Amino acid sequence: MMRILGIETSCDETSVAVVSSEPRILSNVIASQADLHARWGGVVPEVASRKHVERILPVLHEALDRASMGFSDVDGIAVTNRPGLVGALLVGVCAAKALAFSLSKPIVAVHHLAGHLYSGFLADPELQFPFVCLLVSGGHTELVWAQDHNNWLSLGSTRDDAAGECFDKCARLLGLPYPGGPHVDALAAQGDPASVPFPRAWLGDSLDFSFSGLKTAVARYVASGATTRMEDIAASLQAAIVEVLVAKTMQAARRTGAGTVLVAGGVAANRGLAAAMQAACRGEGLKLVIPPPELCTDNAAMIAAAAIHRFQEGSTDGLDFDTLAMDPLARSNASH
Ligand code: KG4
Ligand code: ZN
Repeated sequence: MMRILGIETSCDETSVAVVSSEPRILSNVIASQADLHARWGGVVPEVASRKHVERILPVLHEALDRASMGFSDVDGIAVTNRPGLVGALLVGVCAAKALAFSLSKPIVAVHHLAGHLYSGFLADPELQFPFVCLLVSGGHTELVWAQDHNNWLSLGSTRDDAAGECFDKCARLLGLPYPGGPHVDALAAQGDPASVPFPRAWLGDSLDFSFSGLKTAVARYVASGATTRMEDIAASLQAAIVEVLVAKTMQAARRTGAGTVLVAGGVAANRGLAAAMQAACRGEGLKLVIPPPELCTDNAAMIAAAAIHRFQEGSTDGLDFDTLAMDPLARSNASH
């Protein structure tokens, strides 16, 4: 049994976790900066980097304490190095490299979205490849056909805004605090999803997504001075996002012949999406995995989980890897 220390600082969460190779979470400490960025209506990169510098060591010590471990009990270090805010990523990567060097432990650089995908294995120990994964976060919206640890195909992705970005930008137009996704979710639970017919971008047979038109429609709707209840607007907005996400995920499962669907990333915490996805998967006879909310949003346990097979295969990294602002998760195949 290995114990892996995971580090995540790609955006505005400073997180350190310890995960054993079963996989089992021994600790998962998450210090969110959301409150700090709320007054700006979005993440301010330089503010995020500075806060990571302040918090990384206390969060690291807390994660080891909660796992009742010392540095020498760590068997390997996993860290997010891409994609993300480079200044923010650098804080986690420098800490991870310093630990790996000084403790003489192996290190693995992890793709942030791979981390989201592996949150599925933490949520459900029975989860097995292959499966279709809908990755929906603040920065990404992508359908991935994950066949094994090393063979992932991108079936479609967003052509403009990510689903979480759409939730947040529309919420801002509605005067809700940042990040808006959870606020829309809470209001939508009390509203009528059929009250405002917001547009859905189907894009023909493509499994790509587009959410910028919806954002424009919400801006126009707000400017028109309509007096619809906020709950009803939120429910209608959420329905417009959820309907497209669910329909394209079902289409992806049909085209690949997948028997399992995983929904991961911050937006997977959305209750409307979970309910609609459950109903659709039941109808199609598909197994559905949605991690609990604390594993859907950014955390280091998922980063450690994504590295387990790499440590087991012995395919670890040197200390010379870089941070990257952008990097596609999977190769794409236009024939799907
Ligand atoms: O995965 P994540 O924590 O960070 C990124 O990698 O982007 O995702 C954050 C995104 C934000 O856009 C946030 O509004 C959205 O996930 N989110 C939600 C909910 N909880 C978080 N969106 C809709 N409903 C929720 N309950
Ligand atoms: Zn994320």
